[in-house]
Amino acid sequence: MRLANKVAIITGGAGGIGLAAVKRFLEEGAKVAIVDYDKQQGEKMEAELGENVAFFAVDVSKLAEVKEMVEQVVDRFGKIDILINNAGITRDATLVKMSEEDFEKVIQINLNGVYYCTQAVAPHMIAQGSGKIISTSSVSGVYGNFGQTNYAATKAAIIGMTKTWAKELGRKGINVNAVAPGFTATPMVEKMPEKVLQQMEGITSLQRLGKPEDIANAYLFLASDEASYITGHVLQVDGGIMM
Ligand code: NAI
Repeated sequence: MRLANKVAIITGGAGGIGLAAVKRFLEEGAKVAIVDYDKQQGEKMEAELGENVAFFAVDVSKLAEVKEMVEQVVDRFGKIDILINNAGITRDATLVKMSEEDFEKVIQINLNGVYYCTQAVAPHMIAQGSGKIISTSSVSGVYGNFGQTNYAATKAAIIGMTKTWAKELGRKGINVNAVAPGFTATPMVEKMPEKVLQQMEGITSLQRLGKPEDIANAYLFLASDEASYITGHVLQVDGGIMM
């Protein structure tokens, strides 16, 4: 039980990588708050996954909702040990075709949402003198990606924020890291054309897409005591697509 007695918030936990992480964390003894704006799926998961799960219908890009959720998680589970900033969206278009709306929407969720959740959770971790914060970047944020001006900007920003927070919060006993997944088989990627996915597999050293569990295991490692001397790190979990 690598997360016995730990309380984790997992944003975007109702589907894809986030849901795989919720299940993995439960197996390792954690109590988990699923934070997601998909109410139907979130309630379904809460009913299926048992008493150590609580669902909070929250849009991470809404500061007031995030602040209220954090207080409710503390009321329900007593503390917060782990924050997984996993919620994210894509609205792809090439630079000249990208609308202001699509640019702003991705910034609001992928960037502002990570900042809001971390800012709301950090005081609780500072008060208890420990915590693990893990945010989901992407290979797009490290290397850029065709058609992803907005998305790559947010995923690069997550790396900058992670290193800043690692410097600010290390003295408070808090580890802050990021995971940068490669192409992973989730609903986010399933909307990409089959041909593009095959190309991605072809340029991946391990010759396959990631599974949600591959990323969930990296979250688990960074959230566990095994990673207690790791901070400010960006862990690429990408099958060797970029080196
Ligand atoms: P997904 O689309 O399968 O699941 C995302 C979850 O986040 C959904 O349950 C959705 O309802 C929730 N969500 C989205 N916006 C939200 C908001 N404003 N407030 C609350 N919940 C919200 O996506 P996937 O693939 O599981 O992605 C998870 C994270 O991994 C994202 O940050 C994504 O950018 C990142 N990532 C994914 C890759 C992939 O190939 N699937 C590659 C690199 C990074």
